[in-house]
Amino acid sequence: MQKHHWLRAGLFAAAASAAFAAAPAQAQGSLVMYCGVQEEWCRAMSGAFEKETGIKVAMTRKSAGEIYAQLKAESSNPRGDIWWGGTGDPHLQAAEEGLTQEYESPANKDLHEWALAQWEAAKKRSVGIYAGALGFGYNTQQIKAKGLNEPKCWADLLDPKLKDDVQVADPNSSGTAYNLLATVVQLMGEDKGFDYLRALHKNISQYTKSGAAPAKAASLGETAVGIVFIHDAVVFAVQGDPIKAVAPCEGTGYEIGSMSIVKGARNLDNAKKFYDWALTPAAQALAAPAKSYQVPSNKNAPVPAQAPKMSDMKLIKYDFVKYGSSAERVRLLTKWDKEIKALPK
Ligand code: G6P
Repeated sequence: MQKHHWLRAGLFAAAASAAFAAAPAQAQGSLVMYCGVQEEWCRAMSGAFEKETGIKVAMTRKSAGEIYAQLKAESSNPRGDIWWGGTGDPHLQAAEEGLTQEYESPANKDLHEWALAQWEAAKKRSVGIYAGALGFGYNTQQIKAKGLNEPKCWADLLDPKLKDDVQVADPNSSGTAYNLLATVVQLMGEDKGFDYLRALHKNISQYTKSGAAPAKAASLGETAVGIVFIHDAVVFAVQGDPIKAVAPCEGTGYEIGSMSIVKGARNLDNAKKFYDWALTPAAQALAAPAKSYQVPSNKNAPVPAQAPKMSDMKLIKYDFVKYGSSAERVRLLTKWDKEIKALPK
């Protein structure tokens, strides 16, 4: 072939391959993902899905209560396609309000019964993706300096020596903190539960926006105790920070981290693709490298070695249907705002 023919052929091939390389992304479209766990895990999931499928993912990380509020605000003109992660209660509330879409994944057959129980409770509009128990993390140096015994129970957090030295999130924004509210009410009964929260309020330095923030604060010594999901305290313990994770002796609640497709999702097919992919063992195995030690919902997914052993804990029979109802959410949060948050420090 003449030299200029080679050149033209080369240019054509380059143009074709460039067009082809661009085509999958165009052909695959995009996905708007609202993510309710820690930033690092959110980025790992959105990045891996985008790499594997060519679908462009626009991911934002918020706390569970914030995402639930955003879905309500956007319900007449939905922006999100998939809500992945965060405690199961707000996912159930969204499902009850018709903010999320029924879907049955072929992966359902591989899920633990607790993950399917979430799917049934949500009338197929949400599904369990991970589980974790509620507890707290305490800074070992701070506790020693205060001459306190190592806290093992919810009751230990009321010690006057912990005044302004306990942190937990605000249950309006945080799924973790709503889980605490519902756990305390179920564990102690509503009246004694609110007495406990009133007494605890005296020791609270601040109600954070994000549920896992108190674990970081405890690892840094900014607070003596952070009330979080136990796996969130383990993150800092395994990296050598002076923090110990505790499953409270009286018993405790747990979360079924969930995933829901947004009703009216503009990229519905891509949302279903993400949903199916996120339930695979390979996708669920992305948690541990992202320092997330929840128990995965696919029976064939590896359980992180660092995951707290929930079978060793005293867990309440958490009534997800009751505390996942919108009416109960509104009633409890209104009562908490009025009877706890409004209390003078
Ligand atoms: C952390 C935990 C998750 C939990 C989430 C809730 O990411 O590791 O297990 O679902 O917090 O976040 P939130 O800020 O809503 O309490």
